[in-house]
Amino acid sequence: MVGSETSSLLHGPVAFKDADDGTIPVHPPTEYAAAVASLPTNLNHASNSKLKRRCYQGVWVREEWAPGIMAMQRSFAARPGDVVLASVPKSGTTWLKALIFATMVRAACPPASPAHPLRRLNPHDCVPLVDRLFAVGREAVLDALPSPRLMCTHMPLSVLPPSISGGPYCKIVYICRDPKDMVVSLWHFINRAQPDISLQEMFETVCEGTSNGGPFWDHILGYWRASNAEPSRVLFLTYEQMLQDPLDKVRKLAQFLGRPFSDTEEEAGVVAEIVELCSLENLKNLEVNKKGSQGVFFKFSHDSYFRNGVVGDWVNHLTPEMAKRLDAICEEKFRGSGFTF
Ligand code: A3P
Repeated sequence: MVGSETSSLLHGPVAFKDADDGTIPVHPPTEYAAAVASLPTNLNHASNSKLKRRCYQGVWVREEWAPGIMAMQRSFAARPGDVVLASVPKSGTTWLKALIFATMVRAACPPASPAHPLRRLNPHDCVPLVDRLFAVGREAVLDALPSPRLMCTHMPLSVLPPSISGGPYCKIVYICRDPKDMVVSLWHFINRAQPDISLQEMFETVCEGTSNGGPFWDHILGYWRASNAEPSRVLFLTYEQMLQDPLDKVRKLAQFLGRPFSDTEEEAGVVAEIVELCSLENLKNLEVNKKGSQGVFFKFSHDSYFRNGVVGDWVNHLTPEMAKRLDAICEEKFRGSGFTF
């Protein structure tokens, strides 16, 4: 790699929305329709047709997302410097997007700067969801993104294109969360767009493994094992650990991404500034996050990504029996793996 390329890798990424001029139209791929129609569905089990999912290579996905996964497997090629954030939805993706973005761009754009992209763009407009771009046929915008690219996926490692899952270029940062809080968060979030799905119905899909990107236990275990096998390429975090000590986790992130904080940055309080910029309180109260929306198949308002952001909110929504059931699933599925919440 020549010097100027190395230095541009240390200054990026560019906020996705700043690089996407919107000229590439939404054009969902049609060539996978027959393949998608032949995939198993969960409809025999799910009582609510809005929770219909298809099973592709052992992973349950919304029907309209399946062609995108197929297209992504076929054509995505990682580049040197790529960073992929992976998560089960509602596990802290928005927060981690903001933290990684702010950490990576800090040389070009200090976190205290009034002109920081995160003060005018929602974190999801800074870091694109590749699954959605492929699902709507807009993946060409990824080719136009300058390196280093910071991208996100909700898919398990097992269905990602080999150039992401197998490296060597691409680093992966993974986040997961206690499924009891995750399901409550998911229900609140989906409820804003689809108020006719009950918490009980949502809970059932999570327990039976058919929620989007599920089973959640396979999702978690895939990245957990990869992070143990290749710790310099896959960083595994939990929402609970992040909340417990965000400063420590931001330092860990910077180190992992090859951009550790210098003594001068530490003395200037840059780590704390990043944590403050990306805090729930701060992001939630920015004008850009009080209006506007994300999504193509469904519109999710920007404010729906920021709720209360605590550990243990499940006690206010799940019965003790529901909690016990999810805990038992985790106990069984994670036994022997070394992973526990
Ligand atoms: P709750 O619904 O429990 O409050 P995701 O970003 O993966 O969609 O996850 C959303 C969850 O992360 C929501 O949890 C949301 O409130 C929380 N969250 C969003 N931004 C956050 C931030 N900056 N800090 C901490 N938690 C955040």
